[in-house]
Order: sequence, then C-alpha cells, then structure tokens
Amino acid sequence: MSEQDFIPKSYTNSIEKGSFAWSSPSNIALVKYWGKKNDQIPENPSISFTLNNCKTITKLSFSKKEHNDDFSFEVFLDNEQKDDFKPKIQTFFKRIERYLSFLKAYHFKIETSNTFPHSSGIASSASGMSALALCLMSLEKELVNIDSTLNADEKSLDEEYFIQKASFLARLGSGSACRSLEGDLVVWGKHDSIEGSTDLYGVKYPYKVHENFKNYQDTILLVDKGEKQVSSTVGHNLMHDHPFAQERFKQAHNNLSKLSSILKKGDLDAFIALVESEALTLHAMMMTSMPYFILMKPNTLEIINKIWNYRKATDSKICFTLDAGANVHVLYPENEMKNILEFINNELVEFCQKGQYINDKIGFGAKQL
Ligand code: DP6
Repeated sequence: MSEQDFIPKSYTNSIEKGSFAWSSPSNIALVKYWGKKNDQIPENPSISFTLNNCKTITKLSFSKKEHNDDFSFEVFLDNEQKDDFKPKIQTFFKRIERYLSFLKAYHFKIETSNTFPHSSGIASSASGMSALALCLMSLEKELVNIDSTLNADEKSLDEEYFIQKASFLARLGSGSACRSLEGDLVVWGKHDSIEGSTDLYGVKYPYKVHENFKNYQDTILLVDKGEKQVSSTVGHNLMHDHPFAQERFKQAHNNLSKLSSILKKGDLDAFIALVESEALTLHAMMMTSMPYFILMKPNTLEIINKIWNYRKATDSKICFTLDAGANVHVLYPENEMKNILEFINNELVEFCQKGQYINDKIGFGAKQL
C-alpha cells in the first residue's frame, strides 16, 4: 500500500445526514515511538499492547451543508461543548482532507467521552483520534458504491482496506493512534524482519506469541494528573537535533527484533529488561534534548524502586513502562494478578494522586457501536 492508495477516486453515493459511533482503546508502547519526520512518519518502528478498558467513545453526526468552502464542526466532551479541542481537530481535518474529499461538504457534530477519568494524564489522543478516524471511514464507506456482488475474499480485502485507511488517517491525527484499532499487539513503522510493517499505518503483529503474554495485565498508576509541561509533539521535534538520535533509532530497530524472539519464546525476564530499558530510554531522550525536560515526578521514581525491590524479594515478573508523562504502567502476567494487586494496594497507592489507579489489560481493538 502506498499513500496514493488512500486517495479516494469518486464517491458514487450521496447521503444527506446520519451518524456513526465507535469505541476505540488506548495503547501502551513496549518499544517506543519518539521522533518523527514530516507527515507523521516515525523515525523508528514501535510496538504496543492494545488496552481493553481505557477507551474513547465517539459519535459523529453529519449533515450536508450548502457551501463547501471550509470545515464546519462542533465538539462535545461528556455533553459539554469543548472549543479548546477544535484547533487539534482543525489541524487533523486539514491533514486528512486529501484522503477524504467529503470533509468540507458536511457539518459535523463530534460527541466524545472517555472511560478513564478526564485529565487523568492518560493520553486520550490515541483513543480519541482513532475513534474519530473510524467514524469518518464509516461515512466514506457509505459514500463509496459497495458492490453487493463481492465474494468473501473480496469482502475481507475491503475490510482490510477499511482498517488500514482508518489507521492511516488516525496516524495523521496522532502517531500512536494508528496502533489502537486492532489488538492485541500492533506494530507501526517499517521493520525489515516484520512482514507487512509500514510507516503509513499500524499492522497486527503477524507472528506467534507465547501463552505467557496472553491476557497480560496493565495497572496504570495515576501519579500526576496535571497538564504536561511539554507536549509529545514538542518532544518528538526535539529529536531532530538530538545528539543521540541516530543511535536511539537504531536501538529501537534492534529492540523490536529482540522482542520478536522474546514474544515467541515467552521469556519474561528478557521482556522485563527490554521494556523497562525502553521506558527509561524514552525519558533519557527527554532529559538529553535541548531544551531538556523531565516528565517523571518523584513518585514515579519511588514506584519504580518499589517495583524493583518487590521483584527481587519475590521473583515476580512484574515490570513497569512509562509513556510521555509521570504515570506508571505496571505490567504483569495474569497468574500474578492477586499478589500484585495486593502489593499495589499496600505499597504503591500512596504514591498515586488521590490514591487513583486503573486496572487494565491487553485488548483487541476498536468496535463499531
Ligand atoms: C511516548 O503519538 O502522542 O507515547 O504523533 O505528536 O501525536 P504525536 O505523538 P504521540 O506520541 C506518543 C509517544 C509515546 C510513545 C509511544 O506511544 O510509542
């Protein structure tokens, strides 16, 4: 698939108004995306677990308008009008207009809500942008003349195209969003030994994964729910003149190769070492940018040390990862759930803001509602 394949030919159907709704989950990267080129092309490949419980639910209502001169839309979060979301969506629409030529022909009402607490510091951009991209694709699907004579193989190709293009569009909203449509592991970014991987959209990890990783758990400890001082977009851009950038991009390629063999063998110790190193490397890149910045908080480090001590003392396979913020994702196999939740309640909750955390686990992607 190339970018050209996502430019629509012509729309043969006409539709006055209607609505579509999708729920789409968040995801947590194991090998991190940090650094991008123009048009949201990642500097290195990444892979993530799709989450199950942290989701955005978006309803897109549309009605034909008279003039096609500009975008027209309104946004609501939990039934409240949110004009401060508009610039991000306006930018998104501008970027995807080339691929969805109907965008200026409609007025849109975007109603969205998250299953996780608002301003929990959990990025809603991955779930939010993927849900919106899917709603827009549902509309495109209606506008394209669906050929009812398609056989089963052709229909499945049609479905594949739908998801690929939705992921392609979501990427243009927020890079990591393109990994939220499917599950349970998604790769984004060209990697020589992962078949089908591409910089343009996320693909399901195509190889065998050991039972050890089935139903893997992720408890998200909410350490700091405040607004981030430095956005991901600014952080990505600081990789342009970063002294360690090229080595980091190489390392991500190598780590993804190593992770493939870890996933196949079910080697939990190697998984822990790789995932924790990726999380700390991400933050090390932030600390060595110019200007430099730190998104971890003292309690992030308290939690990391507690996890390391617990692992030493118990032989548990618990580990942590971080995204671009202070919250800690605690990852562990399902069979340790009882003990680890006890450990979290006894020893980690005190480092969470208002004692808050979210229990999540690996999930299987977005759903149309
Ligand atoms: C640290 O996808 O939020 O979570 O493309 O600028 O919207 P934009 O950035 P975003 O960056 C996420 C970075 C990360 C790592 C990851 O998810 O791979």
